Amino acid sequence: MEKQNIVLGVTGGIACYKALELVRLLVQDSCSVRVVMTRGAAEFVTPLSFQTLSGAPVATDLFSLTQESEIGHIDLADSADLLVIAPATANVIGKLAAGIADDLLTTVVLATQAPVLVAPAMNVHMLAHPLVQANLAKLRGAGYHVMETASGSLACGYEGKGRLPEPPVIVEEIRALFRSKDLAGEHIVVTAGPSREPLDPVRYLSNRSSGKMGYALARAAARRGAQVTLVSGPTALAPPTGVRTVPVVTAEEMRGAVLAEFESATAVFMAAAVADYRPHAAAAQKMKRGDGSLSVEFVPNPDIVAELAARKRHQVVVGFAAETESLLANARAKLEKKNLDLLVANDVTQVGSGFDVDTNVVTLLDRDGTATPLPLMSKDAVADRVYDWYLQYKKQSPRRIKSPSRRRTA
Ligand code: CTP
Repeated sequence: MEKQNIVLGVTGGIACYKALELVRLLVQDSCSVRVVMTRGAAEFVTPLSFQTLSGAPVATDLFSLTQESEIGHIDLADSADLLVIAPATANVIGKLAAGIADDLLTTVVLATQAPVLVAPAMNVHMLAHPLVQANLAKLRGAGYHVMETASGSLACGYEGKGRLPEPPVIVEEIRALFRSKDLAGEHIVVTAGPSREPLDPVRYLSNRSSGKMGYALARAAARRGAQVTLVSGPTALAPPTGVRTVPVVTAEEMRGAVLAEFESATAVFMAAAVADYRPHAAAAQKMKRGDGSLSVEFVPNPDIVAELAARKRHQVVVGFAAETESLLANARAKLEKKNLDLLVANDVTQVGSGFDVDTNVVTLLDRDGTATPLPLMSKDAVADRVYDWYLQYKKQSPRRIKSPSRRRTA
């Protein structure tokens, strides 16, 4: 990370003291660190401590004329290769989600073109509050990289999630963000969310998929330099920045949208939970209640990923399998049957895995029969591990996977 310019925003939480260690580690890694403290942060730790460790003046107040002429908030924003906020309180997260810039740090965040890494730290109940969760989702949607908090005993006396990740863990995350754009030149197609199969004009058949894993995959691929198309079923998530999002509703629409991208794609990651069946015919009018039971005839939907795998030439086709029992046996059978290159399997009954949570516990399966189980981690971190594994797979199979352009000229 030599000579990377990091602007570190420190906001007012007890975890501020850990930011001192973070500065020490970053400076040790030859980064140049400029610290911006909010007024609250300066109540917990003195600017002098940060100044001593970073070897640079600490910016604290947007409206100080001396500081503004010496540091300048736009200069600070422009100089950053990365902006890190650690710890990020619920307050600063809320302000950023609302686009508020009422102090130096929030102004610098809005003004910077650099990637932003947010490491939240707060009380377990504050973190779980739906408004805080909605704000974090907004930040992710705006392309901010939000770290998962650590679990354990909190300064407020509670046990649970909300701890600032340890400084070495944050440094690791920063290193990952500086990693080369190793997906440059790729066109990655990701599907996400559920499909929705209409029964009549007001009812549909769907499933519990939130789309979070697929959106994390789309964001990670864009961050690593790929051109990304996200084909998304209906979700509550904001379309990620830097990604072309194609909204679809039914499995048939998803199939059409994915096939339209397939020729130019280098890889397809089918994270969507596609309904296997749809009602034979959606009723034209709202179905009325009758006296007896109701039977609906379902017909199979196309198996999109199997169709892609059957058509693939240069593309790598990656499937996802959400299972509730016999994870490895079921997942291996899917990998074989659908002729996939790689498969990401998860047992949705495990704590921290599956629907509508920000974490996942997955096992990566390849065609050689190798199963790589990953520990519980954020969906963002899972996405990065999936791409590391994908790049490794391509390196190992260069003869089979040719680039589209090489194939055309051959
Ligand atoms: N998939 C697909 N088209 C479908 C159903 C699933 O492309 N009609 C894809 C999913 O996006 C996923 C993979 O197939 O990448 C596995 O999905 P899953 O629902 O686990 O598998 P199914 O084949 O539907 O098996 P089952 O529901 O019986 O477990």
